[in-house]
Amino acid sequence: MSIEGRPDRSRSIATVHAALDAGVTLVDTADAYHVGADEVGHNEELVAEALHSWGGDASSVVVATKGGHLRPGDGSWTVDGSPEYLVRAAKESARRLRVDAIGLYQFHRPDPTVPYAESVGALLTLLDEGVIARAGISNASVAQIDEANEVLGGRLASVQNQFSPRFLSSRGELDHCARLGIAFLPWSPLGGISNAGGLGSRHAAFAEVARAHGVSPQQVALAWELSLADVVIPIPGASRPASIEDSVRAADLELAPEELERLGAAGS
Ligand SMILES: NC(=O)c1ccc[n+]([C@@H]2O[C@H](COP(=O)([O-])OP(=O)(O)OC[C@H]3O[C@@H](n4cnc5c(N)ncnc54)[C@H](OP(=O)(O)O)[C@@H]3O)[C@@H](O)[C@H]2O)c1
Repeated sequence: MSIEGRPDRSRSIATVHAALDAGVTLVDTADAYHVGADEVGHNEELVAEALHSWGGDASSVVVATKGGHLRPGDGSWTVDGSPEYLVRAAKESARRLRVDAIGLYQFHRPDPTVPYAESVGALLTLLDEGVIARAGISNASVAQIDEANEVLGGRLASVQNQFSPRFLSSRGELDHCARLGIAFLPWSPLGGISNAGGLGSRHAAFAEVARAHGVSPQQVALAWELSLADVVIPIPGASRPASIEDSVRAADLELAPEELERLGAAGS
């Protein structure tokens, strides 16, 4: 909604409202979801506007955001994992989200120039200062999950890694989170913006199971991810109300053990 090719603001707001109407209680954003250097936090402001203009009670909605990934405005993505930067960025995110404490704040991507424990140490500072209610990490290895959880004294709430039928390489991190009871948020759970539409043609088993249930292959992918462990919370992107309304139905889609087994063997 805020990066290249973004829809107009009214369609974005309508999409968030459709998600909330359908019972979604987790919205994922990041301060880096913008294009120009002068519009850092574009998506955080949009999400805050959508929550405030929604007619329902948003008190049980968790807004998760991230810091440590930056867009200097030339189309590139850079990182800054220094504790000073992260503490400053989180306070800016809280201001844009119009909250006293951010529901879930995630360190977006490891910075190879900063020891991981130092970056995660900033999350501990933010927890202690009450700027954030929960701390998470993203794009992390099993070793980094353990290191972060240790730095945070066992308070690591979530891990957000790429995972979908197309990208299975974080299965080890997913299983590790399940063992530790830490939420695992698959990002690009449908394979990413430019691949999501072709999920069914790329992964025949998902299309076949979808046909058998009369649902979309995207819904089957989300239901399959949800089946992998209790801690899995997929965060499908959407820029149209119809997409999120369809995705939400995955929560009620029950797949048979033999279907799940088939899908498990069907990733690429
Ligand atoms: N931590 C990280 O480093 C990182 C990196 C990338 C993404 N993320 C997070 O992951 C989220 C999702 O990732 P993503 O948007 O890149 O990829 P995605 O969720 O795999 O795919 C999004 C695309 O799927 C389409 N779509 C959604 N639901 C659909 C449905 N039920 N049927 C058919 N098409 C459907 C959307 O269409 P429409 O737009 O037409 O609605 C959109 O084009 C992001 O919003 C972000 O929060 C995190």
